[in-house]
Amino acid sequence: MKRVIYPGTFDPVTYGHIDIVKRAVDLFDEVFITVAINPSKKPLFTTKERVEMLRESLKEFKDKVIIDSFDGLLVEHAKLVGAKAIVRGLRQISDFEFEFQMALMNRKLSGDITTIFLMPHERYTYLNSTVIRNLASLKADVSSFVPPNVQEALMKKFK
Ligand code: COA
Repeated sequence: MKRVIYPGTFDPVTYGHIDIVKRAVDLFDEVFITVAINPSKKPLFTTKERVEMLRESLKEFKDKVIIDSFDGLLVEHAKLVGAKAIVRGLRQISDFEFEFQMALMNRKLSGDITTIFLMPHERYTYLNSTVIRNLASLKADVSSFVPPNVQEALMKKFK
């Protein structure tokens, strides 16, 4: 059973993240998507809301995708769920430095967990959750960037 973990803040999940999940689902038997409880970020959505949005957005993959949250070290959580690899998305060259550092640090912390980078479709390379939150707060149409349930949740937050 090839099991991987895809961590992130997902505040909120976008079609860019979902593109990565689809690629991971094609490659692995089980994909654990884990929402980071990151004290250095002040998320718009609670951890529970982010988990629920992911569940609803990814329900067509429910046989292969498991969604949870974690606090603490990613490699420890990866071990806990039995994942041998960490999946991260690489959108553009500016992601590389941070991702490279994180991958090497995680390898130092746990030599038997490998980081794998997947590239989303180029139509999502300029997307991130901050842009989506900003657009939604200004009442812009975000329907081409996030699933309908996320769009609804954003509209509620900014009504
Ligand atoms: N499509 C769209 N947006 C994407 C994307 C994609 N495919 N991939 C990443 N992004 C965006 C995210 O939306 C996020 O945007 P935002 O900053 O505007 O909210 C941004 O890129 C950062 O991505 P994310 O995957 O959420 O990374 P992060 O930097 O918030 O979190 C963790 C990284 C959680 C994996 C990392 O901090 C971690 O492992 N923490 C646990 C502690 C630990 O183990 N530390 C040691 C590691 S060295």
